[in-house]
Amino acid sequence: MNFMANSVTSTSQKTYDSPFKNWDKSSWIRSKPLRELSFSGLLFSPELTPLASHPEISKDPALYEAALAYRLLEHLQFTSLVELNYVNPVCSDLFQGKTIIKLTEEQRFDLLKIYCDEGGHSLFMKWFLQQVENYCGLSHSVLGQPQFELNFQKLLDAEDSLSPNLIKLFLTNVIETLYVRAYSSIPQDQRIAPAVRTVIGDHIADEAKHYTYFFSLFPLLWNSLSNLEQEKMGQFLPRLMRTFLEPNQIAARNVLQNLGFSAVNSEGILQEIYVPEKITQTTKRAAQPALKMFKESGLFSISSVKKAFEDYGFLV
Ligand SMILES: [Fe+2]
Ligand SMILES: [Fe+2]
Repeated sequence: MNFMANSVTSTSQKTYDSPFKNWDKSSWIRSKPLRELSFSGLLFSPELTPLASHPEISKDPALYEAALAYRLLEHLQFTSLVELNYVNPVCSDLFQGKTIIKLTEEQRFDLLKIYCDEGGHSLFMKWFLQQVENYCGLSHSVLGQPQFELNFQKLLDAEDSLSPNLIKLFLTNVIETLYVRAYSSIPQDQRIAPAVRTVIGDHIADEAKHYTYFFSLFPLLWNSLSNLEQEKMGQFLPRLMRTFLEPNQIAARNVLQNLGFSAVNSEGILQEIYVPEKITQTTKRAAQPALKMFKESGLFSISSVKKAFEDYGFLV
């Protein structure tokens, strides 16, 4: 990877309008205490919990509640890991000028605010995970290592034309555009426990600003690549997004077995829930904010890139 920052000044830098002007008063870590709120209600959205939709689970209230609780633990564990292992290392590299783009002082200053936000999110997720475990008497260790971590490492190992640091830079830019839309229904969902709605609502409030920052950063990043790099990265992005967005079937299998289903019955349930066409539809829906960002930067005007996105079901 080229660690020498170039001196391109893009339109997005000249017209930079910081989303963090009110950060002291609005950010979670600077302005909101950790609140111990009620757990009465559902622990996660049933529509975002594939396991809860299976009749073997939904017909039994205890299994249904456990499936939702494990889905919440999975969300908290994964969010904390993403902040620590992917987003903050990239924010640090961007701030220090160790990537392919050079940012203004104001843009760099805002990266430190994002860094603090994400460190806070990781802390709050861990704190809340402990509260949920105590309340439910369940342990997140049942879930196992996040599927994304395993599959992302396989992607990196198999890719020899793009550097791992460049891939992580694009991954972070994509991740930061997807969170708000994915979970925006939860804070308003009256069926869900107030504690869960508040924690996810507080996270979304910060992530809405991160979305604005990274959405406008993407054209700068994209235009810093050579034509050949654009073609390679453009063809790689749908694979990367699919890996990030696909449901964690390893966790679902572990949860089923922990709930008492045999290995054979667990596989049967997983096959009925995770139908490939349905996964393609769900990932396409979740990818919309990033697809809009790619379209505005002209990715789909490169025919090989457009075809790669079509092959993964993102554009059909
Ligand atoms: Fe975050
Ligand atoms: Fe973020």
